[in-house]
Amino acid sequence: MPDSRHLLSVTDINPAETGALVQRALEMKQPDQGGAARALEGKSIALLFEKPSLRTKVSFMVGIQEMGGYSLYLGPEEVGLDTREPVSDVARVLSGYVDCIVARVNSHRSLEGLVEHGSVPVINALSDWEHPCQIMADLLTVAECQGGLEGRKLAFIGDGNNVARSLCLALPAVGMNFSIASPAPYALEEATLRQAGEINGSTSIESLLEPARAVRDADIVYTDVWTSMGDEAERGARLEAFQGYSVNPELMRQARPTANFMHDMPAHYGEEVPPGMLEHPQSVAYRQAHNRKHAQKAILEFLLAS
Ligand code: CP
Repeated sequence: MPDSRHLLSVTDINPAETGALVQRALEMKQPDQGGAARALEGKSIALLFEKPSLRTKVSFMVGIQEMGGYSLYLGPEEVGLDTREPVSDVARVLSGYVDCIVARVNSHRSLEGLVEHGSVPVINALSDWEHPCQIMADLLTVAECQGGLEGRKLAFIGDGNNVARSLCLALPAVGMNFSIASPAPYALEEATLRQAGEINGSTSIESLLEPARAVRDADIVYTDVWTSMGDEAERGARLEAFQGYSVNPELMRQARPTANFMHDMPAHYGEEVPPGMLEHPQSVAYRQAHNRKHAQKAILEFLLAS
């Protein structure tokens, strides 16, 4: 399949395609699935996961089943990317069995290896660099809860991690503004901020220190854990550095009165959010989690349906 499209980064799809995917996900959320039922009939999809997952794994498996396809889960102990055998061999062998590889990897380089040596579409189900499937569900959620995307402002509070990076790069494509507040050592790198700024010159991208400044006029206040999978050795230092970066009802009051709270989950209660924050009246975190399935169905249809 020499012309395979892949989704390793939110920038692998252009702004028009990003908007169309969100629209398609909205359609696929309807009871008739927007006509997509059985669109994966006869297709087999490997879910190759080096890290644990609840939302990504289950939403992909159920979504694939709803579209008539077959999913095969390969967990952290089973394949041994670059330990039991090289990524290049895994890519070549899997490409002979399945029509698509959905991979959650420790290193983004493993995804690039799957693309380079395989011959089927590869979807990033989270790497240390980006989390594009999460962001497509996030855009769907914003579109539903804020009545559209263009002109809305999302404020991200916390670690400049894979989720923050994907948001920063995806939001300008749909005309949204982005602000992030992080302690200096955990801020998003300049190169990503610059890249995002070049996607759409009429949107605003800002990196700040103070959460209260970042959430000013925000339509969405978004946070993620301070210690992501793979960063556990830094947990003590991170807990100290992120004091003052919790998203709580008081911070929500400094955003627009109509603002929503979002969290990609899992949450570390007592750290980036207090207990109960995901059930706050302005929270749409559970809807956001449920939207993973609809967004991923739209991604699968885009990459695989013939
Ligand atoms: N948000 C997210 O990717 O959740 P999981 O780690 O449970 O898949």
